Amino acid sequence: MRALKLSTETWSSKQVFILAAVGSAVGLGNLWKFPYITGENGGGAFVLVYLGCVLLLGLPVLISEIAIGRAGQANPVQTMAVLAHKKGGSRFWSLLGVNGLLASALILSFYTVIAGWGLAYFVHSVQGVFQDISAQQASTHLDELLASPHELLFWHSVMTLLTVVIVARGIRKGLENALNFLVPGLFIVLLVLLGYATTTGGFERSWSFLFAADFSKLSWQSVLVAMGHAFFTLSIGLGTMMVYGSYFAKEHSIVKASVWIAGVDTLVALLAGLVIFSIVFANGLEPSAGPGLLFQTLPIAFGQMSGGWFFGTLFFALVVFAALTSAISLLEPSVSWLTQRFGIARVKAAWGLGAAIWLLGVGSVLSFNAWQEVHFLGERTFFESLDFVTTNIMLPMGGLFMVVFVAWVFEERDRVTEIDLPANLRRGFLWNLRWVVPVVILWVFASNLVTGTQVYWLMSGALLLYAAYITKVMR
Ligand code: PHE
Repeated sequence: MRALKLSTETWSSKQVFILAAVGSAVGLGNLWKFPYITGENGGGAFVLVYLGCVLLLGLPVLISEIAIGRAGQANPVQTMAVLAHKKGGSRFWSLLGVNGLLASALILSFYTVIAGWGLAYFVHSVQGVFQDISAQQASTHLDELLASPHELLFWHSVMTLLTVVIVARGIRKGLENALNFLVPGLFIVLLVLLGYATTTGGFERSWSFLFAADFSKLSWQSVLVAMGHAFFTLSIGLGTMMVYGSYFAKEHSIVKASVWIAGVDTLVALLAGLVIFSIVFANGLEPSAGPGLLFQTLPIAFGQMSGGWFFGTLFFALVVFAALTSAISLLEPSVSWLTQRFGIARVKAAWGLGAAIWLLGVGSVLSFNAWQEVHFLGERTFFESLDFVTTNIMLPMGGLFMVVFVAWVFEERDRVTEIDLPANLRRGFLWNLRWVVPVVILWVFASNLVTGTQVYWLMSGALLLYAAYITKVMR
């Protein structure tokens, strides 16, 4: 194997790592996606499953992924290859890195498209378009934007460009300064919006929509979506946190950092949900309106509240910003792989990948207009298909293998030094990694593939394979 050029940069402080990781986690997933998939999947029960997934699966995967990154000190593909080699594991572990790089590129291609909507809305807000806008006008405004491939393409291009420029400049210079005001700023605006939400008359219904669980509305497909979203929103399962972990100084606590990341991320999503559904119910809108939900509700709020122009402009600036810090973290793993594995200059790697991803993004742009009726996976548009395959399959699959890697391939010594849990929690955590996380993920997959008692057959098969694998590892 060629000599490895390891990650040499480290974050300048622990806070910066947490900020960067939070910056990656908090993004369109919280502000745009969580509310709209919650609306599509019936509310409370879905939220409960999502919260359960964050706690039971998300947090352990996040901890494992950062630990792998810090132990391996390189991009996902090489980290997996080197660590597996060191521990006598199979070469095929590097496929886990490949899955991650692929998923991150696919996600980024539609991510910049949606972030582009945010950018368009920022400009419209500056222009005062949302002043006194009615619910009807807000919907029409979004429809008009989505109907124009040219406009969407333009904003998608701007977002891709911004992402590439920042990543090309390198992780520290590009990121650190910007991160300092993102998270605090986001909280302030969300709290202001929350104050407004309580005056709309829709707040109570919003609260019970989000927190009163009616399990009759829940299907296995919704459970899969909730699980996938837990991975998407925490940026786990594809190597982003692995790369960021490789920049995380050894003396800091991975467990504490992870709890912070997951906590802040969840809080932002719930706040956004509360605000958006208050506006939905106060204005007689549809909770299940789909991907446009954020963009057709918030302008109404900004049109009505005092200081709406200021807060609206600030909010959409923050959406763009939050999206940008996530977009960067989606490009970084592939760029670090190209630079470390092939010695390609960072600038070239970033621009080359950016171009390819931009091109793929055109498919998502067209999904909202010219290709609206063109179906790929089942009834799904191009955008929906990409989202489904990456979020609901590739990320949980990646997370599953990461956890298995830490649970069975890592030596006890590594686990203890990287995962700094108090001694009395260690065994329970390991047990969770070995059994709970894999079995739950496989169960959700199986329940989406087959129905009725066939699930038990499929799970028995999967568990047999798992047992065979463990016996091999333990030998
Ligand atoms: N977590 C980001 C969000 O919620 C999206 C993301 C996914 C970023 C995977 C990096 C990796 O918007």
